[in-house]
Amino acid sequence: MLILFLEGGNLRGRNPFSMQLALLQYDAKFGQKIENLDRVEVMLTGASFDLAVLPELFATGYLFTSKNEVASLAEEAGKGPTSQLILQLCKAKKAHIVFGMVERAQGRVYNSAILAGPRGIVARYRKLHLFYEEKRWFSPGNLPLSVTNVHGARVGMMICFDWRFPETARTLAVKGADIIAHPSNLVLPHCPDAMMTRALENGVFVATADRTGTETRGGKSFTYIGQSEVVDPFGKILFRMGREEEGVRVIEIDPKLARKKRINRYNDVLKDRRPRFYS
Ligand code: ACM
Repeated sequence: MLILFLEGGNLRGRNPFSMQLALLQYDAKFGQKIENLDRVEVMLTGASFDLAVLPELFATGYLFTSKNEVASLAEEAGKGPTSQLILQLCKAKKAHIVFGMVERAQGRVYNSAILAGPRGIVARYRKLHLFYEEKRWFSPGNLPLSVTNVHGARVGMMICFDWRFPETARTLAVKGADIIAHPSNLVLPHCPDAMMTRALENGVFVATADRTGTETRGGKSFTYIGQSEVVDPFGKILFRMGREEEGVRVIEIDPKLARKKRINRYNDVLKDRRPRFYS
């Protein structure tokens, strides 16, 4: 079912610094890449956004059972059906999309997030903190965390389990991120609430795009918890989707709110850190 909401948004009264931020949440079917891409195409075509965030490994599913399976679903970033569809949507919508994919590069396979725009791929991130059997399937990320300008906002990426390592979000904030795009396939219950803290402690917007559904493969079963959400720099949940809800939600945000790091006249969320004493 496709559900589309525009929250907080009267386009005519739109703040010139604002951005339409979209999250897509759905139940990807394992290994059915073409069917998954078709569904996502329909969902995104019906939405209006400047930046959309899709789940981790959104086109392939997550619960792999062998290295061969991972290899057969991997694609080079920018080539292959997954990137091609996303690049085509970015052009048609004049928008940017962050999406998760099984990335093949230099003989290795990574769990990656790609930031694509109308003129091609503009940034990539390879998951630094691999969860559970991902350690069997993927090489750990080998790229520095980075921040990229998109529609006047500075966007950083991290993937799912990276939430459990606060250094990830902190590093993106220190590098100037206004928005942390967070493609996810969440199986543990704590992340949606933890991301309120990641947003608050760093003074950034957080956009977690999770999936729904259950995968049962190779004697294992994972149920994904949905609850994709946008949290503002003050830790307030702007929206949180249901556990089983599928669709796209869009909200208008002002990314520049993330540049106000002052807590009160004496305190600043980044400047008051004492890194000299942290090592
Ligand atoms: C996860 O990192 N996909 C749980």
